[in-house]
Amino acid sequence: MADHERHPFLHGLSKHRGSPPTVVVIFGASGDLTARKLIPAIYNLAADGLLPADFYLVGFGRKSIPDAEFQAVARDAIREFSRRELSDDIWSRLAPRTLYVSGGYDERPAYDRLAARLAALEKESGQELQVLFYISTPPSVFAPIIQNLGASGLAARYLRRPHQSKVIIEKPFGRDLASARDLNRELTTVFTEPQIFRIDHYLGKETVQDLLVQRFANAIFEPLWNRNFIDHVQITVAEEVGVGSRAGYYEQSGCLRDMIQNHTMQLLALTAMEPPVSLDAESIRDEKVKLLNAIQPLRLGPGGDTARAQYTEGLVGGGLVPGYLQEAGIASGSSTETYAALRLSINNWRWAGVPFYLRSGKRLAHRVTEIALRFKRAPGNIFPESDRFNLAANTLAFQIQPDEGLSMVLNAKIPGLETRTQPVQMNFRYATTFGSNTPEAYERLVLDAMIGDGTLFIRGDETERSWQLVTPILEFWKEQGRAGLDIYAAGSWGPASSASQLAANGHSWREP
Ligand SMILES: NC(=O)c1ccc[n+]([C@@H]2O[C@H](COP(=O)([O-])OP(=O)(O)OC[C@H]3O[C@@H](n4cnc5c(N)ncnc54)[C@H](OP(=O)(O)O)[C@@H]3O)[C@@H](O)[C@H]2O)c1
Repeated sequence: MADHERHPFLHGLSKHRGSPPTVVVIFGASGDLTARKLIPAIYNLAADGLLPADFYLVGFGRKSIPDAEFQAVARDAIREFSRRELSDDIWSRLAPRTLYVSGGYDERPAYDRLAARLAALEKESGQELQVLFYISTPPSVFAPIIQNLGASGLAARYLRRPHQSKVIIEKPFGRDLASARDLNRELTTVFTEPQIFRIDHYLGKETVQDLLVQRFANAIFEPLWNRNFIDHVQITVAEEVGVGSRAGYYEQSGCLRDMIQNHTMQLLALTAMEPPVSLDAESIRDEKVKLLNAIQPLRLGPGGDTARAQYTEGLVGGGLVPGYLQEAGIASGSSTETYAALRLSINNWRWAGVPFYLRSGKRLAHRVTEIALRFKRAPGNIFPESDRFNLAANTLAFQIQPDEGLSMVLNAKIPGLETRTQPVQMNFRYATTFGSNTPEAYERLVLDAMIGDGTLFIRGDETERSWQLVTPILEFWKEQGRAGLDIYAAGSWGPASSASQLAANGHSWREP
């Protein structure tokens, strides 16, 4: 049975968003992201009929690969990673339009070859094409690619079109405020801000988009969404996995850069921003920046607003796993944090006095991302003494992943002749209502960029403001080395220092 027959709500979803004729050029097309996410995303857009009739995919990389070999790699990637099975019918239309150009990222003649290939595609198609450059390489080559797109005239050539050329740039967007500013400067020398799409794939997740719908399409929430009713907010981005094979990257990054500066800050901004005047990109991004600007500088050091820790050996999924310092490729005595938590104060009329707690970590009890708003307790108490401690504070929790949905903790009467209460949970689950075959984040994001809709992408000032908040913490931690670095057992919910930070305000972390 087709999904829409089983889940009639899917009927209501609009599919009337069209892209102009487009070439997507992926730099770093032999990489992991291209195989696991980008090619399957393009394939699923094709399967949904959302690609323009004139669509081409051009891979770019250093190794010399004939078109046919790239096509075979792409087909295998779809087989292995697509949410839909490979259909010969769809693939036979996409395959001849899947091409490869090889060359060094800092080699000017390679961009001339790319330009010639693009010109040939326009000739074949008999019309002007918009070009979407997707930079999916390690960050060390972001700048040479941008500079060469500028110097070769490629960016400008497609700028004058009715549908201007666009560039998607992968994370990490800088590693501190100075490098993010440098990267913004490189980008805006060659492209204008509306052409630049800084990706944070979290924003493409259905549940993150649903947060906007829940907040602004339901009149019951907005009157409660402020310091009069909300006691505090907890945002958790927990991973069960350890550092795995990414030691080289992670040692240079750590949790604050890898998760908090981008994903967690974005979730915070969407949760706490003022209602935008419309759903267009600039209205939403203006409100996010205003919110980020209202966050107060953090107090560093003992008793301050930050916590950091490393996992030690522990039990995960019933098996013993090594601690961070015992993982392959980790420097002995490394001070890289695998857990980070922040306590933020937002100085505006809506949120003054409401703590926002953010945490993220590897090797936590299980993989979950959620935003939980804890409401103030009911005033007074008319219930018997024995029940007082049973009454829970109401909590509204958005589960972003993996079990996508929304839950509300309420107090209910236990059936019986006495009046006794018990907290109960009301749940809405995406998979139950809408089916589980929802688009992947990258499908939505690639399509949005093709259409030119930047709502789910990060604007230059947003990324700089976010780095401005976390850079002093990074510098302080670097200066401290391992001093003040706490530990937690793998498989737990994090270090004691993070728990005491909440306890100081009479709060405790949820175990979602
Ligand atoms: N993988 C993920 O799940 C994921 C998730 C979120 C964000 N990202 C971001 O997406 C981007 C791409 O990720 P990825 O995992 O696909 O990266 P990757 O596999 O390490 O690299 C992509 C391609 O870039 C080229 N490359 C690698 N190292 C290079 C170097 N030192 N100098 C020049 N070129 C180099 C290689 O292509 P050639 O040798 O063919 O030139 C490689 O196949 C990164 O910025 C990453 O942070 C990745």
